[in-house]
Amino acid sequence: MGRIDGKVALVTGGAQGLGEAAVGRLVEEGAIVILSDANTETGGVTADKYGVAFERHDVREESQWESLMSRILKQHGRLDILVNNAGIFTSCPVDETPLEDFRRVIDINLIGCFLGCKHGVRTMARNANESGGSIINLSSVTGLRGQIGGAAYSSSKGGVRLLTKTVAIENAARQIRCNSIHPGTMYTPMVEALFDSAGDAAPAIKAQIESQTPIGRMGEPADIADMVLFLASDESKYVTGAEMVVDGGMTTGLPY
Ligand SMILES: NC(=O)c1ccc[n+]([C@@H]2O[C@H](COP(=O)([O-])OP(=O)(O)OC[C@H]3O[C@@H](n4cnc5c(N)ncnc54)[C@H](O)[C@@H]3O)[C@@H](O)[C@H]2O)c1
Repeated sequence: MGRIDGKVALVTGGAQGLGEAAVGRLVEEGAIVILSDANTETGGVTADKYGVAFERHDVREESQWESLMSRILKQHGRLDILVNNAGIFTSCPVDETPLEDFRRVIDINLIGCFLGCKHGVRTMARNANESGGSIINLSSVTGLRGQIGGAAYSSSKGGVRLLTKTVAIENAARQIRCNSIHPGTMYTPMVEALFDSAGDAAPAIKAQIESQTPIGRMGEPADIADMVLFLASDESKYVTGAEMVVDGGMTTGLPY
């Protein structure tokens, strides 16, 4: 018996990294998972790996949310779990950030999450017996505090944090819960790309991240997938509007 047997779950940006790990964990515990991603190639391969359905889906496009939700309702009759995971990372000083770059990050990370919450709530509100649902939004530790280079990224993730609380308070009475997860630095293709672009400086950057993390290592996608599973399951039925920090202690205080 799985912890979320028979629940219907949608994971956006599920092709790789934290989204892929969440897909795997939800499947292991009995959910019927739909993996969506803007990247059709990787998305299809990952969906086949876990034996789940793949949907091509750009989270910025409201019409795509509408059609995806109606396909899910037609096929499964309900949506119980939505993981708003799709996102991009950028780093640039505020005075050098082009407006179009700032807008692109807000568009994908914050507006994409808003559209997910809007259409997720509408769909979950139709679940039989008013059984509600669980919306899980991927924010970041940089959504809790500023970060050098984070004008766009931190702003988007800070927005996700308060969007989450708003969705939670508006929908608590109908048992639709909404929580945010705040990962520290997790080893995914997003972070690998950063190391690649750092070239020879990459080992020093990795050592610095580890020294700023009291647990002494970077996070693994499975660390986040376990939190996704908890928030998706009925074990968290009294948890809504919460900020679940999964960062190896990175934000607990200064390391000196
Ligand atoms: N890796 C980390 O250290 C870390 C830390 C904090 C927060 N996060 C957040 O966790 C989430 C996942 O991060 P990751 O490291 O797995 O990233 P990743 O780059 O490895 O994967 C992100 C996925 O999102 C998809 N995507 C990007 N834009 C999209 C769009 N417009 N529509 C649909 N899909 C889109 C990509 O194709 C990719 O498959 C992101 O929201 C990220 O900001 C990651």
